[in-house]
Amino acid sequence: MAQRRKSDSRIRKIGVVTGGGDSPGLNAVIRAVVLSALNRGWEVYGVERGFEGLLHRDRVHLLTAQDVRGIIHTGGTILGTTNRGNPFELNIVEDGETKHIDVSDKVVREFHRLGLESLVVIGGDGTLTIADDLARKGVPVIGVPKTIDNDLMATEMTFGFSTAVTTATDAIDKLHATAASHERVMIVEVMGRYTGWIALYSGLSGGADVILLPEIPYNLESIAKKLHDRWRRRRNFAIVVAAEGARSEGGEMIFKAHEEGREPRLGGIAEQLAIDLHRQTGYETRSLVLGHLQRGGQPTPADRLLATRFGAAAVRAIENGKKNVMVAYQSSDVVTVPLAKAIRKSKLVPLDYDVIQSARDLGISFGDE
Ligand code: F6P
Repeated sequence: MAQRRKSDSRIRKIGVVTGGGDSPGLNAVIRAVVLSALNRGWEVYGVERGFEGLLHRDRVHLLTAQDVRGIIHTGGTILGTTNRGNPFELNIVEDGETKHIDVSDKVVREFHRLGLESLVVIGGDGTLTIADDLARKGVPVIGVPKTIDNDLMATEMTFGFSTAVTTATDAIDKLHATAASHERVMIVEVMGRYTGWIALYSGLSGGADVILLPEIPYNLESIAKKLHDRWRRRRNFAIVVAAEGARSEGGEMIFKAHEEGREPRLGGIAEQLAIDLHRQTGYETRSLVLGHLQRGGQPTPADRLLATRFGAAAVRAIENGKKNVMVAYQSSDVVTVPLAKAIRKSKLVPLDYDVIQSARDLGISFGDE
């Protein structure tokens, strides 16, 4: 490992940036990148609030060990983040009108002007797709997969997922007592975008009676059958966990906002189900949307560990001359995979997954039988 010398004019310099929605563990990755690089005698520049930060001198800072002290256990990102910072389609408001401009060439120029040899990009599918586009324009990048949704294909796990599942499970635990006391059906809407990972894991861990996933369209009659069955056995309450992307057979996902240049925002399935299930069964229903609580709080030890392994592996990848790859968790190991391959499609919950089978074995309904 090269030792840093003050007179060395060829100190290796790398950048690190976080993009898209925040995810618990981002700070642990940044810390691992900075400490691993500093221990090699390199310099790390933190780019604030997404790629576009490269265009602003006051948003690129040399990061020291002091900057990353005491952050392994904190949520959020010390670099800030945005899901509006796509340099290929940057939103700007001119004369009260929103326009999209392509500033990617400027970003590439600025990256080289700073003398950076690689950019560690910590993001989900959207941010990593932008990273891949920048890679095609000559910016060597190392991707680090981040998302509470756990929906990235090339990695078995993303950091942030464990924390989101823990928060959702904790909420489900708390709802049991009130549901039982009032003999109600409580419907909990959890995040996950177009996949049901958070719903499946928290639903099973929290002892839910019904789990609804985008991957398994539900029908109301089937859920009603499960509820009636519980009431017949004098278990006069039920917990339904619905992924925000859950949909009925032949139905569509429910969105609450479509904004230009952004991913549509899902939301509203729990409220809709509460109305539909009350109408169908007569049981009293209440709905709850956990929302951004799932992105907050301290990362779990599992997320801190994965995030730290990813950050250190990203620096090792640069040291080994790799570029345009993503670090990934596969078979208990951290490996690198080509970035272009990693972002090709999202990872849905497989229908033959043993976790689904185990839930069914326990009598949990997915609303499809
Ligand atoms: O991808 C992470 C995520 O939290 C999704 O689960 C959710 O659908 C979305 O981001 C919410 O995005 P925003 O923070 O823009 O509301």
